[in-house]
Amino acid sequence: MQGQRLLQGSAHRPAAKPQQQPRQPRRRPAAAPRAAAGSSAAPAAAAAAPVAPPPPAIMGVVEGLFQWKPLFNMAAKKARSMIVQRGEAIGIDWAGAMAKRRAHDWDAELKGVVNYAVTYPDYYTKAFHAYEQGNLCWDSALEVTLAAQSVHAGVMDPANKAFRRDGDAALRGAYGERTRQLMAAQGFDPASVRSAVDLGCATGLSSLALLEAFPGAAVTGVDLSPYFLAVGRYEQREREADTGRPEALSFVHAPAEATGLPAASCDLVSMCLVAHELPQSATRAILREAYRLLKPGGVMAIMEMNPASPAFQRIFSNPFAFAAFKSTEPHLTEYVTLDLAAAYTDAGFNAPQQLENTPRHRTVVARKPQAA
Ligand SMILES: C[S@@+](CC[C@H](N)C(=O)[O-])C[C@H]1O[C@@H](n2cnc3c(N)ncnc32)[C@H](O)[C@@H]1O
Repeated sequence: MQGQRLLQGSAHRPAAKPQQQPRQPRRRPAAAPRAAAGSSAAPAAAAAAPVAPPPPAIMGVVEGLFQWKPLFNMAAKKARSMIVQRGEAIGIDWAGAMAKRRAHDWDAELKGVVNYAVTYPDYYTKAFHAYEQGNLCWDSALEVTLAAQSVHAGVMDPANKAFRRDGDAALRGAYGERTRQLMAAQGFDPASVRSAVDLGCATGLSSLALLEAFPGAAVTGVDLSPYFLAVGRYEQREREADTGRPEALSFVHAPAEATGLPAASCDLVSMCLVAHELPQSATRAILREAYRLLKPGGVMAIMEMNPASPAFQRIFSNPFAFAAFKSTEPHLTEYVTLDLAAAYTDAGFNAPQQLENTPRHRTVVARKPQAA
């Protein structure tokens, strides 16, 4: 079974192959509907239209360079050391945290979460974030919570230069706030959320943010990486020991396209920072699964990078920057060219509304029709 094979040491996986990009029409970015962070501006009418990346001919050449192993390895090493250095600069004891984690019995932890019946789609078994084995390895799982804090340290600063220890928390807090705001604008009382599903939860940072934004809710985190979920459970136990309070959070190892959770069982489905790791067909399948999971009138929320933001536009205008980014995010072009609003409505949702939650991230929210 493929699931088992990957879990028993997956050094067999080939490195990501050069991808043929679909030819995209060069379009001017649509003006992103905006609301300043912290404001209570009215939600925009619809999600931003897709934005074109650099022309495929140029991208092909530049991406070819990044697929040259020595250059890729050098760039990956530099990126990783920058993440660690920035983490330490904002006060994370990276070496100490990693030493403690590496000493833990992870095999036992893994057994507590893994579902050996799960199989992994091809798009998922690629190299991600400069880890050859992508999301299916301990190296990535043990670091992911620390890395999120480092990578998001400057996220609230338009120039991404003012680094704060709580940047990641601010990003997620703003997502919760925007989701509540858009829900209310669409006639759904945020205080009535009792059950939420966090698709692609990794170690649960996004699930925790849901617990904070919706204190009356029980949250189920779903992820395809049993390694991330194992670390998530470990971190949850550590937090519960610290606070003395159990969290209303449980984890399920499953693909977000077919969670196995009951139909019409939840008020809110959230997918936070996952769509950029997906081909368009997977995002569409996940939206259909979210529709199935939601009660009539329930809410689907997505938080992601905003391709129409000035920060993203700067990356588009520089094929080297875009190729470097894409070398660690194999499905990035599919994400930035996806018409997310159309994907929502194709899955049966009402037309979504969008707000910025940082200078480079957007929150997109829509309801399943009441009559569904
Ligand atoms: C960038 S991480 C985001 C994690 C988390 N939501 C957060 O906000 O920090 C993307 C996560 O999506 C998960 N993922 C990607 N494709 C998936 C799929 N088809 N089904 C379930 N999880 C998936 C990955 O394993 C990874 O944990």
